[in-house]
Amino acid sequence: IPIILGLLVAAYLLGSIPTALWVGQRFFGLDIREHGSGNAGATNTFRVLGKKPGSFVMAIDVLKGWAATSLAQVMLNQGAIEAGQLLYFQLACGILAILGHIYPVFAGFRGGKGVATVLGMMLAIAPATVGVCILVFLAVLATTQYVSLSSMTAGVAFALLQLLPAFRPQNQLLVWFGFILAALLIYTHRANIGRLRAGTESRVPLPWKRK
Ligand code: G3P
Repeated sequence: IPIILGLLVAAYLLGSIPTALWVGQRFFGLDIREHGSGNAGATNTFRVLGKKPGSFVMAIDVLKGWAATSLAQVMLNQGAIEAGQLLYFQLACGILAILGHIYPVFAGFRGGKGVATVLGMMLAIAPATVGVCILVFLAVLATTQYVSLSSMTAGVAFALLQLLPAFRPQNQLLVWFGFILAALLIYTHRANIGRLRAGTESRVPLPWKRK
C-alpha cells in the first residue's frame, strides 16, 4: 500500500511540473500566463516564445503523461498490484498527472489544458487509437488553423473511435474513460470555445493559408 500511495502522489507531482511556466521564467524572464492565450501549455509557448521552446514544452508535457502512466508498471513489477489491475492503476496515474498538469501544485494550481499530457497517457495505453487521433488533429488544424478546436476534436475522436470494433479496448472502462477525458478537454477549453464562437480565437499561421 505505501508504494502504491507514493507512486500515485508521484504521478500527480510529475504532472504538476509546469514546463511552459518554468521555460518562460528561466529563459525568457516572463510568466507565459500573462501572454498570448494566457495558457501554460505547449501551444501558447509556440505562440509566444517560438518553435524551439514550444517543441521542448510539448515533448516534456507528453513525456510527463507517459511516464506517470508507466508508474503503474512499476507497481506491478514491485508486486504491489496484480496484472489484472494494471489498467486501473494506469488510468489512476494518468488522470492524476493530467490533473497535476491542469492544477499544478508548483504553479499556484494554474496550469495548462491537458492536451499533451492526455496524449502521453494514451500513448502508453492505446497507441493505435492515438495515432488516428493525431491524424484527426492535423486534419482539423490544416483546415481551420485552430489548435484548440483540433485538440477538442481529437479528444472526442478518441472516445468515439473506441466504440468501433477495430479500436474497441478489452476493458469497457477505457471507453468510459475516453468520454471523461473528452469532456475534461472541452471543459479546459471553455475560454477557447467562447473565442471560437465570437470569432476571436487566434489562428496558427500556415504557409498555404497566408493571405
Ligand atoms: O494546448 C492547448 C490548446 O489546445 C489550446 O491552447 O493556448 O490556444 O489556448 P491555447
